[in-house]
Amino acid sequence: MTPKDQNGLFLTFEGIDGSGKSTQCKRLAEALHARGLDTVLTREPGGSAGAEEIRSLVLEGDPDRWSAETELLLFTAARRDHLERLIAPSVADGKVVICDRYADSTRMYQGLSRGDLRATVDQLHALMIGREPDLTILLDMDPAIGLSRAKGRKGHEERFEDMGLELQQKMRAGFLALAEEFSDRFVVINGDQPPENVAQAVLAATLKALAQIDP
Ligand code: TYD
Repeated sequence: MTPKDQNGLFLTFEGIDGSGKSTQCKRLAEALHARGLDTVLTREPGGSAGAEEIRSLVLEGDPDRWSAETELLLFTAARRDHLERLIAPSVADGKVVICDRYADSTRMYQGLSRGDLRATVDQLHALMIGREPDLTILLDMDPAIGLSRAKGRKGHEERFEDMGLELQQKMRAGFLALAEEFSDRFVVINGDQPPENVAQAVLAATLKALAQIDP
């Protein structure tokens, strides 16, 4: 589905842990609401009742709780439920869906973190998901800053943050490479600047994508 075949817009945020995605997702949702746009703010893993249950399975507990392959299946199961029940119906209804992480996170975290599983990730995506976002905003950021921010938040969901700085550096490079691979839908924004400036750049990119659907 391209923006021209649909009424709504499916927009995702990506970036390393602590890159400010959650804050910027909320700000964008508020800015779009204020413009009278019907907006759905959601996240992955999660976003539907079943997917939220899977979220606690994958984000809590020991870093070695799941093999890389099992973890990939769990993230994909969660995404399929989220896509069927929330994302696809909302976009078909003409809404703007803002999702905090989506399949590009799987390409990076499950595809790169423990050996190279990228080909398996892509095959499973083609088989079970088959939907890319219309626009992906990558908040790019120095991993040392990102990690100290992410670690500052106390909680139970730390499996990936516990994997350390080296992994975050690999992720950053990986996300930038993805932005080139999918250059038709990625916009890269420097996340290491005042939140207000980031928010302005995010809104500008979103309004441009919306103008392509509804000129
Ligand atoms: P979350 O607390 O939402 O982190 P953040 O605020 O940084 O987005 O936790 C999501 C974690 O799950 C994050 O460490 C990335 C990881 N993740 C994957 O490993 N694979 C995936 O497909 C997704 C969507 C997330």
